[in-house]
Amino acid sequence: MIPTAITLVLAALGATASPVEPRAADGLNTRAVAAGKQYFGSATDNGELTDSAYVAGLSNTADFGQITPGNSMKWDTIEPSRGTFNYANGDVIANLAAKNGQYLRCHTLVWYNQLPSWVTNGGFDNATLISILKNHITNEVTHYKGKCLHWDVVNEALNEDGTYRTNVFYNTIGPAYIPIAFAAAAAADPSAKLYYNDYNIEAAGAKSTGAQNIVKLVKAYGAKIDGVGMQAHLIVGSTGSESVSAWTTNMNAFTALGVDVAITELDIRTNTPATAAAVTQQAKDYATVIQGCKAVARCVGMTIWDYTDKYSWIPSVFSGQGAALPWDENLNKKAAVYDAMMSAWGTGTGTTPTATPTASVPASSTTTTAAPATSSAASGGTVPKWGQCGGIGWTGPTQCVAGTTCTKGNDYYSQCL
Ligand code: XIL
Repeated sequence: MIPTAITLVLAALGATASPVEPRAADGLNTRAVAAGKQYFGSATDNGELTDSAYVAGLSNTADFGQITPGNSMKWDTIEPSRGTFNYANGDVIANLAAKNGQYLRCHTLVWYNQLPSWVTNGGFDNATLISILKNHITNEVTHYKGKCLHWDVVNEALNEDGTYRTNVFYNTIGPAYIPIAFAAAAAADPSAKLYYNDYNIEAAGAKSTGAQNIVKLVKAYGAKIDGVGMQAHLIVGSTGSESVSAWTTNMNAFTALGVDVAITELDIRTNTPATAAAVTQQAKDYATVIQGCKAVARCVGMTIWDYTDKYSWIPSVFSGQGAALPWDENLNKKAAVYDAMMSAWGTGTGTTPTATPTASVPASSTTTTAAPATSSAASGGTVPKWGQCGGIGWTGPTQCVAGTTCTKGNDYYSQCL
């Protein structure tokens, strides 16, 4: 068992820890929220959902307040042939998030990969491809309207040197396909936060600069962009996880443009089988990423690309590598990694929720309904953006920082948004 602060204190006092259970809600998500973030979450995929032990772990909102479909909202699944839309698998993930009271990051509308050949090889002219692009986005975003906290609107549009990746959209429409996509998504669901998402933009450099230019491009067209997703498919001990200041400097370059940032697909791979030294380094690397996000107010949340090595995409794509996630192939926490992540989030300001959200309302379908009445023992103080401000059993502060409103997510959880 991983020692908690409670068990360690009891041990120091010579008391037995056994009669005292750790607080049920202590986990990566509740600590991220206590640190002022909106969520800590995990990707998942439909094939894994027959594994009940896996689903139980994923549904534990102490650890995961958000989920992302790993595949089932991509173009090849959603619109496998022109005008035929298939939402069955995506709906399974959206419904799971709603059932668990977890936020949903919707992923992804426009990507050169997992794009059906009817699009890639269709030979469409500019006007026709624009109409196909808009129709796909409008249909899918409308289907999930009100359910997606974020949409990854455009994914991986850049080469490593920061120039535009050539793909069917770029080759036919030019860079304008990017703002056209954002405008179509915004029209279909004005409340979803719209993201550009890419890898190798976690550290300053040509590709990060290219992503900043995409933010400027979308804005220059008059379209809405709310955030940039840093995928963060990292390597133990390598670039992207070397220092907290490297993270914050790079993130601040994005937030200076008026957008949020999120870490959207974090995993930190190593050669397999992982050595003890690699696991020690990996624990430090996960902690560094968390500290980087923690230090930047507009880093709104963090998602790992599934939570267990049992279902990681890494071994199938990076030969000889894996062991990239905080839970091992037997669904057990890697104690060193998990503990380092917990410590990196810290215990915040005592705003950790004491009850696990259980409502069936999707967390993203927020309203401005006042939070449920809180106990008269509620302490003073101002809750930061994303912090908890109400909910059944909540005795913490309820006053939101200026510019935010206490917004009900479900009966157990209200948040300053
Ligand atoms: C991956 C999935 O996890 C795999 O199951 C699939 O075979 C390939 O795609 N960047 C992204 C994600 O934006 O959509 C990718 O997901 C991983 C890299």
